[in-house]
Amino acid sequence: MADGFSRRQFLSGALAVPGLLCAARPAAAALVRARPETLQEMAGAAHMLFGSAVWASNLADDSAYRTALARQCGIVTPEAELNWVILEPQRGRLDFTGADSIAAFAKATTKTMHGHSLLWHLSIPDWGAEALAEQPDWGIVRRFLSSVVPRYGEVTNTWDVVNEAIEPGHGRADGLRISPYLTAFGPDYIRRAFEDAHMFAPGATLFLNEYGLEYDFPEEEARRAAVLRLLKSLKRSGAPVGGFGLQGHLDLAKQEHFNAKVLADFLDRVGALGLQVRISELDVKEADRNSPIERRDALVGDAAARFLDIALANRAVGSVSCWGISDRYSWLNEPGVINRGLPLDAEFAPTPFFAALKSALARRIG
Ligand code: XIL
Repeated sequence: MADGFSRRQFLSGALAVPGLLCAARPAAAALVRARPETLQEMAGAAHMLFGSAVWASNLADDSAYRTALARQCGIVTPEAELNWVILEPQRGRLDFTGADSIAAFAKATTKTMHGHSLLWHLSIPDWGAEALAEQPDWGIVRRFLSSVVPRYGEVTNTWDVVNEAIEPGHGRADGLRISPYLTAFGPDYIRRAFEDAHMFAPGATLFLNEYGLEYDFPEEEARRAAVLRLLKSLKRSGAPVGGFGLQGHLDLAKQEHFNAKVLADFLDRVGALGLQVRISELDVKEADRNSPIERRDALVGDAAARFLDIALANRAVGSVSCWGISDRYSWLNEPGVINRGLPLDAEFAPTPFFAALKSALARRIG
């Protein structure tokens, strides 16, 4: 750094000797004030992005939520507002209200919006699935892509083009999920979706986004193999795939199967294909919500730390987004039961998961 202090000293707070430095060295005092505190400040110092999934309705209703997102995030992902079924529940009746309000929030707070997700078997509207089953007309998909992708060109430079295309349990040799898209167009639907998304957003980085890859047991091994196979074949066919999203839905019931080497090897292989990697939906599902809170939080923090240690050690990993910033709105909650699996708890207090993110990001800076 310009004044001779290392970045590590800067981050560890070694400069924060109150009074002394402030009086003697105004420049250093300014640095002390600028010490990164929030997750996005830490991520920014590491040339990375930190973000979260968001709900438009909560943004509108909850100012504490809005403030937390504005402070902590550099990137926001609509949790469902870009799903086809939300945008076009009936054929030809497009409603961008939710996605537009998230885009407006992102613009007003100088963030970017990650586009999640274009083709997903769970987000296709019934009318779309029925139409594709009747007649495999790519024009139906293209019309949807053409209506949504260019609309967010100003605020969005990354898209999940295909979400959860892999399902080895469906028994195909290529490990692809049997979905309305696959049935209508065959495996080539994936390449076509990337080509079209690229046509509508030529400057954007386009991602395949997948789950169930974080643990070391046969089903997830099969998923990892299928993902690598698919990414390689997309690259081989010249498809404009630029990145891979590893969702990172951690699960304390599976934690004994966490294997650092297996995860590191997988990320290495994805990176070796020349792809950017996003940790796209990080959260931790608890296994026992009856223990004391300190114990629950320690287990969640530990799982997050072990995962992040490996993920952030890989230079292809350029961003981390959690699937929500606060437990108040986690998709893992059940009626009357909060899952404590996000960086901020339901009262917006930082948890050990928050600390794990900070230290993993700090290591990436140092
Ligand atoms: C989830 C949302 O969080 C839920 O609120 C919704 O009911 C279903 O979808 N993988 C994904 C996300 O890619 O889109 C999913 O989000 C979680 C799993």
